[in-house]
Amino acid sequence: MLFRTRFYLDRLLQGTRTRDFKTLYFVPSSPSNKQMTDTASPDPTSRRDILITAALPYANGSVHLGHMLEYIQTDIWTRFQRMRGHTAVWVWADDAHGTPIMLSAQQQGIEPQQLIDAMKIEHERDFVDFQLSFDNFHTTHSEENKACAELIYARLKAGGHIATRTIEQLYDPEAEMFLPDRFVRGTCPKCGTEDQDSDACENCSTTYDATELVNPRSVVSGATPIKKDSEQFFFKLDNFETMLREWTTGDQLQPEISNKLKEWFEGGLKDWDISRNKPYWGFEIPDAPGKYFYVWLDAPIGYMGSHRNLLGDNTAEFDRYWNADSTTELVHFIGKDIAYFHTLFWPAVLEGAGFRKPSGVYCHGFLTVDGAKMSKSRGTFIKARTYLDHLPPEYLRYYFAAKLNNKVEDIDLNLEDFQARVNSDLVGKVVNIASRCAGFISTRFEGRLADELSDPALFAESAQAADSIAEAFEKREYSRAIREIIVQADKANQYIAEHAPWALIKEPGNETQVHQICTLGINLFKNLIVYLKPVLPGIAEQTEAFLNIKPLTWDDAQHPLLNHGIEKFKPMIKRIEKESIEAIVNDSKEDLQTTETNSPVVSGPLADDPVSDEIEFDDFAKVDLRIATIVAADHVKGADKLLQLTLDLGGEQRNVFAGIKSAYDPANLIGRQTVMVANLKPRKMRFGLSEGMVLAAGPGGSDLFILSPDQGAAAGMRVK
Ligand code: 2FM
Ligand code: ZN
Repeated sequence: MLFRTRFYLDRLLQGTRTRDFKTLYFVPSSPSNKQMTDTASPDPTSRRDILITAALPYANGSVHLGHMLEYIQTDIWTRFQRMRGHTAVWVWADDAHGTPIMLSAQQQGIEPQQLIDAMKIEHERDFVDFQLSFDNFHTTHSEENKACAELIYARLKAGGHIATRTIEQLYDPEAEMFLPDRFVRGTCPKCGTEDQDSDACENCSTTYDATELVNPRSVVSGATPIKKDSEQFFFKLDNFETMLREWTTGDQLQPEISNKLKEWFEGGLKDWDISRNKPYWGFEIPDAPGKYFYVWLDAPIGYMGSHRNLLGDNTAEFDRYWNADSTTELVHFIGKDIAYFHTLFWPAVLEGAGFRKPSGVYCHGFLTVDGAKMSKSRGTFIKARTYLDHLPPEYLRYYFAAKLNNKVEDIDLNLEDFQARVNSDLVGKVVNIASRCAGFISTRFEGRLADELSDPALFAESAQAADSIAEAFEKREYSRAIREIIVQADKANQYIAEHAPWALIKEPGNETQVHQICTLGINLFKNLIVYLKPVLPGIAEQTEAFLNIKPLTWDDAQHPLLNHGIEKFKPMIKRIEKESIEAIVNDSKEDLQTTETNSPVVSGPLADDPVSDEIEFDDFAKVDLRIATIVAADHVKGADKLLQLTLDLGGEQRNVFAGIKSAYDPANLIGRQTVMVANLKPRKMRFGLSEGMVLAAGPGGSDLFILSPDQGAAAGMRVK
C-alpha cells in the first residue's frame, strides 16, 4: 500500500492523475489462471457508464470519521461497479468558497488561497491513505468550475429563471460586511433565551429570521448589526415545481427522502438567493461587480468542474455525461443534512441550464460514536488522520460496511464492537481459512493447488452466493452483503474444521485428500475475497499476490483455481488490540488541546501533528527569541481574534498581529513585556505586515497567557 500511496502522491505532485491503479500490480498470468482474468460483464449492452460523487468537504478543516463514513460508502459502491466491468468514474473536490473559509483564513493571517491549497493536500493525503479510489479530487476554486458556474448562470438567466430583488439583511458596520446566518447570534424573540443561532432557538425550537433576533450581535466583530438593503439575485425554484414533483418520486431517491420532500412542497418552494455581497470568497458574478455566487451555487457545480478537469480537452466525453439526453448515470452520495440542496436546487439548476439530472441521490445518516454525537472532550471526535496513526484503514472500512444500509439511518461506531467484530470476522473467520490451508500447499504440495476440489458442491454454493451479494452491494445494502459473506466464511470454516487436514495428514495415504481439501479451502477463501474486494482493497491485493493472479473481478468467483502455483502465505492482518483504540481516543483528546493551545501562534491550518514532528536542535537554534516591550496595542477592524501590537526591541520597533484578543484587553497590555520570535519572516496579512510573533500559551479562549519574562528584563535581550 505504501508504494501505491507514494506513487499516487508523486503523480499528484506532477499534476497528472491516475484513473486506475490496476497496472501497478502486474502479476504474470499463467495458463491455469487464464479463466480468472476475463473481464467481467461480457455483454456490452449491459455495460454502464456511471459518474459518481461524494459530497465535497469544506476546505477549512480536517476530515473526521463522520466524513469517512460517506466516502467509504461511495468507494465501496464505486469499486463494486468497476469489478462488475462497468465504467465508474468518481470525481469530487474541496468545497473551497464561502464566508467561513474567508474568515478562517483571515483569523490565521493567511490568504484564502493559501488555506485551501494546504487543506487540499491534507484532505487528499487522508483519502489516499483510506484507500479511496477516486479518479479526481479537484477544488471548486478552479478555472473549470468558474466556467461551468458562469455557463449555468448565463443559461438560467436567459431562460428567465433568475429574479433580481432588493432585500433587507443584517450588516456588520465594524467588519463592513453583510452577515451570513451563522454569523449572527442573539436572544430568541419568542422565549428570551440568550445567545441563540440566527435561525432557530435551541430552547423553544422556534424558527425565525435573523432579522427578528432580539439584541443581535455579529460573531465576526461583536458589533450590533444594522439592517441594510441590498440587491440580490434569486433562482426561481418554483419554475421547476412540476418537474421536481415528478422527479422526486422516482427511484433516484430513497422513500424517506421522497416523503420528506412532500413536506417541503407543501411549505411552498421558495426562491433561492444565489448571490452574496463583497467581501466574499468565491466567484464574482459576471456583469455584477461586488456580487458573488453563493457557495452553495458553485459547490455542486464543482462535480462538473472536477469532471472537466479530469477530462481536459475531451469535451465530447464531458458532454456525453452531462448533456440533457445523456444515457450515462450520475450518482451522488451525500449526508441527509444536505438533501434539500441536492434533491431540489441541484436538479432544478441542471434542468434550467439544459443539463441532465442525477440518476441517484443517496443519503446516509450521521455517524455517532459509542452511541452519542462525536465529542471532543470524550475523545470520540476522531479525525481521519488520528485513526490512521493507529490502525489500518480496512478495519474501519469493514466495520462501516457491516453497518451501512440504504436507509437514511444514523450509524453508530461502537468502539468495543468494532474491535470485536473485526477480530472475529476478518481475523478469526476470513483470513484464518487461508492461513489454515496455505501451509500444507506450500510444504507438502510444492506450492501447487490440486487439480480437483474435495467438495465441488461446496464451491458451487459459494459461487452461487455471488448474485445475491452483488444485488446487496448494488442496492447499497452493504450490511446484508457482509452478513451473506460471513455466512459463506462460516461454512468454509466448518468444512475445514470437520475435515481437519492437520489430523488427516498424519495418516499415510491421505495426501491427495488433504491436497484437495486445502485446495477447496483456498478457493473458498478466494471467493470471500472477491466479495470483500470492494470493502478491503488492500487485503484483496495481498490475496492476488499470494494466489499469483491478476486483479480479481466479480466473475472470478465462478471459477476455481486448479493446478495452479501459489506463493507462500504471509500474514495479512493483525488483531485489533485494545491499546490501539485507547490511543485513538487519547490522541483525539490531544487533538483538541493542541489545536486550542497553539491557535494563537500556529501560522497555518496544517500544523501537521505538532506533537510528533520533532525538530533538530539546530532548527531550534535558528529561532531568535527576544524580550519585547508592548508599546501600543489595538483592536483590528474585521478580525475577531487578532490584536495589533507595536513591540519595542530596545530601539527597534515591530508591528505584530497576535491572536490573543480573546484573552486581553489591548489597554491592559501596554507597557508589559513579552517574548517574541524576532526573526520570523515578515508576513503580509490582510490588515498589514506582521513582523514577528508573540509567544502565548494556555488552553485558549480567555485562558491564554503571553509569555512574560521576569521583571526588569531589558527589551531586545536574547532569550537563549
Ligand atoms: O455540507 C458540506 O460539507 C458541503 N461542503 C457539501 C457540498 S456538496 C456539493 F454540493 F458540493
Ligand atoms: Zn426560544
